[in-house]
Amino acid sequence: MNKRIAVVSGGIGGLGTEICKTLARAGRRVVAIDLPGHPDRIDAFSRATQGLDVSFEAADVADFEACAALVRKVEDEHGSLDILVNAAGITRDTSLRKMDRRQWDEVLSVNLDGVFNLCRHAVDGMTTRGFGRIVNISSVNGQTGQFGQTNYCAAKAGMHGFTMALARDVARRGVTVNSVSPGYCETAMVMAVPEEIRARIVDNVPVGRLGKPEEIARAVEFLGADDAGFITGANIPVNGGMFMSF
Ligand code: CAA
Repeated sequence: MNKRIAVVSGGIGGLGTEICKTLARAGRRVVAIDLPGHPDRIDAFSRATQGLDVSFEAADVADFEACAALVRKVEDEHGSLDILVNAAGITRDTSLRKMDRRQWDEVLSVNLDGVFNLCRHAVDGMTTRGFGRIVNISSVNGQTGQFGQTNYCAAKAGMHGFTMALARDVARRGVTVNSVSPGYCETAMVMAVPEEIRARIVDNVPVGRLGKPEEIARAVEFLGADDAGFITGANIPVNGGMFMSF
């Protein structure tokens, strides 16, 4: 069988890079997509993925037409797009009383519109071919809420609704749609939280530490596997016990 082709949005980010490496090591051909404006980060990503079947394409997930072109390009060059991981995410943390319209729009357009924009184009080929794995990277904060994150939590909780609805849309066509909800991990996004606040948050994590990006990637690889076809519309929390539910 041909290699499965995986696209990872936010692919050069803290979680994205590790997801790309893990999927490639599991035998996938991986296309990382991210904004073009950070040549230093793209160089670091190339070094981190050296020797693996991973390439980079520039695309803005907030741009519907750019996502259409990206999906077309991947399908033309590689023959299919089998696994889509929506890991592009940004924060613009501030309490709602200080939040301006731009901080709301930026977070919603990347974190939630971005999921729609890529899925909308990717599902056509997946359903036609009868195989697809979509994994949306949400957040524990989408489940619990977090001070200063009305924009982020709205988007991340929205991803769960989207995941469950799309899972039903495509369930009969070999396509699964799931989400993974990371807790606080060792990424630049989390390190940007002031140290004192971060320390208080980690104090409340039962395992007593930040998560490692590879611990998130492990769950993504699991959901992206060919034999994970009976898991759909689910959410896998990977949060060190910070939020438990059933
Ligand atoms: N709970 C309750 N009240 C709080 C509070 C909290 N956690 N933090 C601050 N307040 C209070 C303040 O004491 C202040 O009270 P007064 O008005 O009486 O003085 C008021 O709320 C406003 O506080 P600030 O002016 O400090 O609020 P701000 O608008 O500047 O926002 C913040 C502060 C930037 C949100 C800061 O609190 C922060 O960085 N918090 C952490 C947010 C966070 O966890 N982000 C996660 C990023 S990582 C990520 O998102 C990855 C993932 O998925 C897990």
